[in-house]
Amino acid sequence: MKHLVTGGAGFIGSNYIFYLLEKYPEDKVICLDKLTYAGNLSTLKTVLDLPNFKFVKGDICDRELVYDLVENERPDVIVNFAAESHVDRSIEDPSIFLNTNIIGTSVLMDAARKYEIKRFHQVSTDEVYGDLPLDRPDLLFHEDTPLHTSSPYSSSKAGADLLVMAYYRTFGLPVTISRCSNNYGPYQFPEKLIPLMIAKALNEEKLPVYGDGANVRDWLYVEDHCEAIDLIVRKGRIGEVYNVGGHNERNNLTIVKLILEELGKSEDLIHFVTDRKGHDRRYAIDPTKIHNELGWLPKTTFEKGIKETIAWYLEHREWWQTIMSGEYQNYYQKMYLDKGRV
Ligand code: NAD
Ligand code: DAU
Repeated sequence: MKHLVTGGAGFIGSNYIFYLLEKYPEDKVICLDKLTYAGNLSTLKTVLDLPNFKFVKGDICDRELVYDLVENERPDVIVNFAAESHVDRSIEDPSIFLNTNIIGTSVLMDAARKYEIKRFHQVSTDEVYGDLPLDRPDLLFHEDTPLHTSSPYSSSKAGADLLVMAYYRTFGLPVTISRCSNNYGPYQFPEKLIPLMIAKALNEEKLPVYGDGANVRDWLYVEDHCEAIDLIVRKGRIGEVYNVGGHNERNNLTIVKLILEELGKSEDLIHFVTDRKGHDRRYAIDPTKIHNELGWLPKTTFEKGIKETIAWYLEHREWWQTIMSGEYQNYYQKMYLDKGRV
């Protein structure tokens, strides 16, 4: 199988590429990534020279580039991870979220239609459902829960989801959508809660907890998400949405304290700061459909996954330190332009 994976230099996309190349060594993977601030080509350094892997720097909104790529490569499937993904940034400046997350998705789907790609998979998020109250643990997000977004980020993802379903109904494009809860694991950009708190604790800096720290997220180890997407792409029913999550709800303060304990740091580093605007209170996924239809269940418990993740950040200080210093952005210049690879 030949896969076009967009956004593969980011957190989940890179883990998905590693997952594919390890599980299906006969498959071919092309990664299209704009290398925004969130894309880090050095993340992919162990696969860059594989004969069945190809990296292309480019924007999913660039119609000409996307059409040329799809025409030349003729992938069997397109899996779209490319997105502006950070809620706080969307509150500062929504416009790029609309371009990449909505327009970019439509450009990819137009290319998929034009070249009759067998599957277009949209990687979406549980944030499209809005939030749930803290005092109703019985309530979960189901696939038919109405879309009810809070931030420009989640609104742009919901807009893309609606467009994906419109392309299915109107044009018969063979689509699937996955809506996953919060991921954690290796290679997550250190602006998101878990890697940010690990990095700050290691640097003995204050850990900024928004509001009262009682907001709940439903955490899933990234590899479990990758396995779910792979199953949906290969065996999921066309035109269907699949929720992905592992019934693992924790509030932010619990996570932060756990990280401090694991690193042997003092809770005095916790610093309560002004809350995020429109801050969603609680997310919780009902994954019954993907379990019943595709047999998916998460393999990594939170206890194991968080320990491994903290250990990974300890062992890969250079990866996140070069991000925090901004130096990672020179990697493409060094690996591609200077070596005449493009
Ligand atoms: P990320 O921010 O780590 O990576 C995004 C990647 O997309 C980066 O490599 C970036 O360079 C690339 N990109 C951005 N704009 C682009 C453009 N216009 N053209 C080409 N490439 C572009 O994001 P992530 O956390 O890995 O999330 C990946 C996807 O999964 C997103 O669609 C996100 O909405 C979704 N998702 C994320 C989570 C989570 O917890 N992180 C959970 C559920 C769903
Ligand atoms: O639910 C899936 C979503 O999870 C994805 O669609 C998004 O792309 C991904 O970024 C993530 O969104 P969140 O907003 O939940 O993740 P974030 O890591 O930004 O924040 C997690 C929680 O931690 C949230 O309640 C806000 C809080 N927080 C976050 C940061 C960065 C803090 O208290 N302090 C912080 O510094």
